[in-house]
Amino acid sequence: MAGTAQSQGLQWLTQQTVPENNAWPHKLALERRALLLTLLAAACTPAAQAEAADGALVEYVNVKEGYRLLRPTAWEQTSKAGADVLFLGDGTEVGITVSPIRIKSLEQFGTPQFVGDKLLGAERAKESTKSVELLGASERRGAHQVLIYDLDYFVSTTRGEKRVLSTVAVDRNRLYIVNASIKCRRSAAGTCTGEDGGPALARARAVAQSFDTVAA
Ligand SMILES: *[C@@H]1O[C@H](CO)[C@@H](O)[C@H](O)[C@H]1NC(C)=O
Repeated sequence: MAGTAQSQGLQWLTQQTVPENNAWPHKLALERRALLLTLLAAACTPAAQAEAADGALVEYVNVKEGYRLLRPTAWEQTSKAGADVLFLGDGTEVGITVSPIRIKSLEQFGTPQFVGDKLLGAERAKESTKSVELLGASERRGAHQVLIYDLDYFVSTTRGEKRVLSTVAVDRNRLYIVNASIKCRRSAAGTCTGEDGGPALARARAVAQSFDTVAA
């Protein structure tokens, strides 16, 4: 998985160096405890699985890789080389990648705008790209105060137009990227809102913005 982010324009993130003061044994003990607690919590909350209505969201947790998010129950869960997991539905593809990284936090690189510009630069470098436009770059804190960036951009390629929601986080020497790409058509207002006119984009946004790392 080490190569995952490299082909996607974020290798500058994985190549950063910081002083090695990881205190791993302590961290591992904490991680094990967190994993146990998460497993217990998951076993005690059948409510999440009970909802099955169209558009309903259900929690997806990977305790080993240390993250969680909400996904539509109706979407297919599958896999793809390099991705930890892939969800498909509503003309949308959401892939999650986890890569080892030396740095501790996104703060060490710069602002959401800066990371957004890097992602756009990677898109521009692709031969199939006709144009790109950054539509949003914001930051938030996860439940455990981990800094998370939510990026939103539009890309026009020789194969069609896409809206991309990329959520990026760094926690415990792991780089997480949630990459939601939505097939779309330009609306009269000039915005790319998803082939269904909006709900798919809203659903993808709900998925990306629900991403968080799990307790350490
Ligand atoms: C995210 O998805 C878009 C659209 O499919 C793709 O061009 C881009 O390379 C992906 N980025 C990452 C970091 O996976």
